[in-house]
Amino acid sequence: MYENGIEAVQGIWWKPAHRAEKVWIVIAFIWCMILFAMMPLWHLRGGQNTTGIRHRVEPTDFRDRTNEFIADYQVGEEAGIPIVEPPPGSDVYLIGMMWQWRPILRLQEGAEYTLHLSSLDVNHGFNLYPFNVNFQVVPGYDYALKLTPSEPGEYRIVCNEFCGIGHHLMVGRVEVIEASAATVPGGDR
Ligand code: CUA
Repeated sequence: MYENGIEAVQGIWWKPAHRAEKVWIVIAFIWCMILFAMMPLWHLRGGQNTTGIRHRVEPTDFRDRTNEFIADYQVGEEAGIPIVEPPPGSDVYLIGMMWQWRPILRLQEGAEYTLHLSSLDVNHGFNLYPFNVNFQVVPGYDYALKLTPSEPGEYRIVCNEFCGIGHHLMVGRVEVIEASAATVPGGDR
């Protein structure tokens, strides 16, 4: 009888594996292969990848373009941060910098926008709470996302990339309003 680690193990463990064990190994191997195939398949079919457009951009140029955007569509201000309501279909600019998101965006439900994200200083993380939306906001790059807000409400932009002493204070806002509540008429401009 097997009682400690020094004595030899009694029994027939060295004989070929039982059929049930072989079947189990085959099942486990097939399952491994299915999971392995799911990785590329989910990448292509999972619907979680964005249609991002990347361009190089000088941080100062991005800042100037954002200021132009703010000047064009500003409708208010809160604690020194402009509130901007761009028309549907427009290009929207959002700056991440230590330690704020600028400006506050007011978007219309059901309208499509192209959201341009960039940073003026270090890497920031764009996390649109409470959605599972995460993007790196990198200085020197304009990362543009096509987006169509589907639910009216107020959403927080939380920085999820550690960016210094004020990282935890870096909270921005996106407001999604119903089209009927818009102060800017739809259409082109
Ligand atoms: Cu910006 Cu953390």
